[in-house]
Amino acid sequence: MPEIKIFDTTLRDGEQSPGVNLNQLEKLEIAKQLDRFGVDIMEAGFPASSEGDFQGVKQIAESVKNASVTGLARTSKSDIDTAWEALKTSAEPRLHIFLATSPIHMTHKLKKTPDQVIETAVDAVSYAAAKFPKIEWSAEDASRSDMDFLVKIIERVIDAGATVINLPDTVGYATPAEYGQLFKTVRERVPNIDKVDLSAHCHDDLGMAVANSIAAIENGVTQIEGTINGIGERAGNASLEEIAVALKIRGDAYPYTTNLTLEETKRTSDLVSQLTGMGVPANKAVVGRNAFAHEAGIHQDGVLKEASTYEIITPEMVGIKENRFVLGKHSGRHAFKEKVESLGYNLNETKLTEAFHAFKSLTDSKKEVTDEDLFVILTDKQTEVDEVGQYELEALQVQYGSANIPTATIAVTTPNGDYQETAGTGQGSVEAIYNTLERLVNEAVHLEDYQLKSIGSGRDALAEVHVQASVNGSTGSGRGSAQDVLEASAHAFLNTVNRVLVNEKMEEKRQAHI
Ligand code: KIV
Ligand code: ZN
Repeated sequence: MPEIKIFDTTLRDGEQSPGVNLNQLEKLEIAKQLDRFGVDIMEAGFPASSEGDFQGVKQIAESVKNASVTGLARTSKSDIDTAWEALKTSAEPRLHIFLATSPIHMTHKLKKTPDQVIETAVDAVSYAAAKFPKIEWSAEDASRSDMDFLVKIIERVIDAGATVINLPDTVGYATPAEYGQLFKTVRERVPNIDKVDLSAHCHDDLGMAVANSIAAIENGVTQIEGTINGIGERAGNASLEEIAVALKIRGDAYPYTTNLTLEETKRTSDLVSQLTGMGVPANKAVVGRNAFAHEAGIHQDGVLKEASTYEIITPEMVGIKENRFVLGKHSGRHAFKEKVESLGYNLNETKLTEAFHAFKSLTDSKKEVTDEDLFVILTDKQTEVDEVGQYELEALQVQYGSANIPTATIAVTTPNGDYQETAGTGQGSVEAIYNTLERLVNEAVHLEDYQLKSIGSGRDALAEVHVQASVNGSTGSGRGSAQDVLEASAHAFLNTVNRVLVNEKMEEKRQAHI
């Protein structure tokens, strides 16, 4: 069966989702999991866009062993040079260059004539070809471009050295029939098209990204681009896990294979959701909480008699396991370490000790510590930036009564090591905490979004809070978990502030180098 290459752009297009802001360690953690999942290519970021992105792509290029790592670039020489610096150590340096080809984009955004666009694309690809063995060229907004123009420009960029041609449905406008036809025509009319891989990249504005990707496969595309959980710009990108499972389950209709290890689907989805703060809707295909739940009595009865009555995908196929009780109050460090390793984490001794203490204090208050709880504790530890000079929560006390004004008393240590304490009020407990923290940190913080969820079920479940805020004028996000909602809220606030400060420091270093 023909093989479809999977190009994951969770760390680039997915990271462009509003409110998503991953630090380097989080990107690396996702990259390692994508590698375990078996993606063929991962787009690790846009190196010229920021120092954080540059360092993230560089570190992933140096660490990831199986997948090919790529980075995005505009057509400028400086973008291409920066991407080369980030990617040159990878086994097979791969660049992704894009330029818009639709009349709307060429006229209003680029302010270039079609001939100038061809010249710009060809110059950029030729320049990159002197460095990179693999170059993907994307015709941004291809699905709204003129076909004669597309045929002409594709032929020229292939001659200039492109090895993959990607035709994105950038604004999620195409129907499956139109998008399939686009590839069919390009294959028929571009004379040198056999020299390259053809790639599809779909956005979900009209809810057709997965259907469009499959239509592209049916019309000769050999590479599919998308993200985990379908995160991405606006309504997001095509969900890779949905495409992979559709190909697997409906192999009769779609006789294609991928290199993905489907049992890693759930873990990949959980990790991306935890680190990006973008929850997976309960009814989402393949990875949603309800995707395997059978509510109606008739359905439950049918599944008990014969699972295939209402279940076309088994939970095991995508790696959904029973949430097992793992370790308890009396488990020692040795058993904990073994469990950590069996879950695929690789913590240094200090972080392992900290994680062990977090686990121990959880066992004091929680009856059962599950794989889900450990997943949150360990991922938090593994992705924590060991940067000196951060705000730390030292103590938190909240007074709430329906007839009283909620009041928070909080102590923190500041980045220069000072211990500070104060009290403040608010309309509710979380507002009291945030008003008080705002007075304790020496930064201008404006809260933009607050999300609370529980990890697993049960009244003693861990709480996880995701926060998005503007800190000194830069938007950032952060998260915090604890068994108490209010403590998790305070951690998420300080984590957001700390992350923006780390980014500010990195940007300062970069400016100093320019
Ligand atoms: O959607 C799009 O067109 C893109 C390009 C940069 C490939 O993400
Ligand atoms: Zn895109």
